[in-house]
Amino acid sequence: MTTFRTDGFHHITMVSRDAPRTVAFYGDLLGLGLVKKTVNFDDPGAYHLYFGDEQGRPGTILTFFEWRDANRGHWGVGGVHHLALGVESAEAQLKWKRRLTDAGVQVTGPLDRGYFKSLYFADPDGQILEIATAGPGYAIDEPADALGRELLVPPEERLPEGRDERAIAAATHPEPVPRITPDMRLQGIHHISAITDDLAAAGDFYEEALGLRLVKKTYNQDDGETRHYFWAAYDGETVKPHSAMTLFGWEGSDYRARPGAGQTHHIAFRARDAEQQREWREHLLSLGLQVTPVRDRSYFESIYFRAPDGLLCEIATDGPGFAIDEAVGELGGALKLPDWLEPRRPEIERSLVALP
Ligand SMILES: [Fe+2]
Ligand SMILES: [Fe+2]
Repeated sequence: MTTFRTDGFHHITMVSRDAPRTVAFYGDLLGLGLVKKTVNFDDPGAYHLYFGDEQGRPGTILTFFEWRDANRGHWGVGGVHHLALGVESAEAQLKWKRRLTDAGVQVTGPLDRGYFKSLYFADPDGQILEIATAGPGYAIDEPADALGRELLVPPEERLPEGRDERAIAAATHPEPVPRITPDMRLQGIHHISAITDDLAAAGDFYEEALGLRLVKKTYNQDDGETRHYFWAAYDGETVKPHSAMTLFGWEGSDYRARPGAGQTHHIAFRARDAEQQREWREHLLSLGLQVTPVRDRSYFESIYFRAPDGLLCEIATDGPGFAIDEAVGELGGALKLPDWLEPRRPEIERSLVALP
């Protein structure tokens, strides 16, 4: 058993074709804070935008590369299918449905997934998003101290043929929701769902490389043929928030994800600090994985490697965090560049579209 156990997700990085449109959607409509406005350190002519809670805490961070010329991507093996953001209650979730539909966003749900309720929609680039309720959690159909042991068949009423689709479509909040109320606050990454062509190999990877544990073995509730397994930071009693990685098993499929706009570029897991990350890197190498050297991302340090199905993964340190070059309360206000890019600021600013 590995001694390396991530506490969960640090961030997820997606691809946008239009930074102002992304700010309007995630900032204004979804109410996430822009916590850092910088550029892609590997491609400084392009924005790298970070959204999160007021401090940009690990687990709440969504980041975007702006690639204006990117082709539209598509989900498939080795890619993320959707990103779920957490909300506290089913009532607040219905408020989100009303707010989003009133803004012209097409919304599906809320669907009862048993472990949580799910609302689905897409961002303007086509990235599939979900808003999922915090509860009732994974212990509804097996004991909390024995999660992930049995392959569970979802009950009829949660499958397409057992659902009252008309009632689901009609359910919404009775009043318009022009302002995000405190109960609607989105709580960061609830889960990330990806597609793999080999559940067993992927499971070994998430368990041995990242120290996640299997917490649910079930079937996709929209497609009863496909297995849907959940891994998370689980100590045998509780599942940590911001830690659930779920996989749809398309065994042997060669329908690969196509990178591009509306797709996830990579997912990042947490390391406590730089020392742990360096040891972790050795551990990954000992498993035969190819791992990049440590890269300084100003707000954290990063290493990159791939899951067996090709999904790009990162381990990022919790610190130093976003307050290193801006005060909390002013995060995201100014374009921030690392010292080595400051001499190129005029040229970089000219290449970027101004953000509100
Ligand atoms: Fe989901
Ligand atoms: Fe990253």
